[in-house]
Amino acid sequence: MGTFPDFPKSCKSQLCAHLTPEIYQALQGRSTVNGFTIDDAIRSGVENIDSGIGVYAGDLESYTLFATLFDPIIESYHGFRQSDTHQSNLNPDDLQAPNPDPEGEYILSTRIRVGRNVADLPLGPAITKAQRNKVESEVSAALNSLTGSLSGSYYSLGDMSEEIRKQLIEDHFLFKAGDRFLESAGLNRDWPEGRGIYHNDEKTFLVWINEEDQLRIISMQQGGDILEVFTRLTTAISEIEKRVPFSYSEHLGYITSCPTNLGTAMRASVHIKLPKLAADMEAFKAITDRHHLQIRGIHGEHSESEGGIYDISNKRRLGVTEVQCVQDMVDGVAELIATEKSL
Ligand code: ADP
Ligand code: ARG
Repeated sequence: MGTFPDFPKSCKSQLCAHLTPEIYQALQGRSTVNGFTIDDAIRSGVENIDSGIGVYAGDLESYTLFATLFDPIIESYHGFRQSDTHQSNLNPDDLQAPNPDPEGEYILSTRIRVGRNVADLPLGPAITKAQRNKVESEVSAALNSLTGSLSGSYYSLGDMSEEIRKQLIEDHFLFKAGDRFLESAGLNRDWPEGRGIYHNDEKTFLVWINEEDQLRIISMQQGGDILEVFTRLTTAISEIEKRVPFSYSEHLGYITSCPTNLGTAMRASVHIKLPKLAADMEAFKAITDRHHLQIRGIHGEHSESEGGIYDISNKRRLGVTEVQCVQDMVDGVAELIATEKSL
């Protein structure tokens, strides 16, 4: 039996906001079919007091077995209640996305990714080494059967030279190693075995295998043609879905290890240069808040901006469709560019 964590007063995570001794006590002694417990679910937030969220799921069952903790966190992050249902819409025809920067003055690149996990398997925090290796071999084989502009090659992390690995990270194509939040969640066990990246020659279509989620399906390219990026992504998703069954729930949509990614599991972002707006972060944040957008640094989550370049992406992922996620980003970016121009 674990003991109730001793959170310092400074802790601002969703975990310390919502975990009470009563809830913790009631969840003690429970274990999912994959042996995942409440102590496993909260370890990352307990070991990383600066977490924003602080919890991970070990499997689909974690979301119901530990619902007294997960539900209020999900509601607080996504504004999505227990009684709400999620709906998916991956139809590019429904997206209104003329290039917000046709002259290419502000947007450096566009990237849209979704997380996916394989149905009826534990998620990364509870997966065994053998299961993870099987995911790698089956998913990479499925990807290797893609044709046309999606055809490419799979590169396993263990076989990759340090030089190539570093270059892929520097060029924004590959995940970093050693994330301490993932480490505490058990997501880095047996590293680098079972992890890798698939991509086409142009590196406009990429799939990460066995990072935070078993698949991260990515479409990206230079410039601001967001519709083209979304269209490539949706084509890829439907091709992969024909070959790999994804974990999906009527209530929570696509199932991911972190509750922030549930639903669409989609993050649509631009790298955008806004040096004037950056001098007035209050005005900048007022626009991003209005459009439900998140500001990240240039090297992804937990990184800083460089040279007035920011990563701007949708924050909502659950209870909104994929089209709406991208629309939030498109509309917000259009307003950001208009404001930057006026300054
Ligand atoms: P994720 O998007 O999977 O949640 P990160 O925020 O860590 O994870 O980003 C992963 C990588 O993708 C980082 O190298 C980041 O710089 C890169 N990236 C994100 N958005 C863009 C973009 N619009 N253009 C180019 N690279 C991007
Ligand atoms: N667990 C980390 C935290 O609580 C990250 C949460 C969101 N990011 C993610 N990559 N899932 O701050």
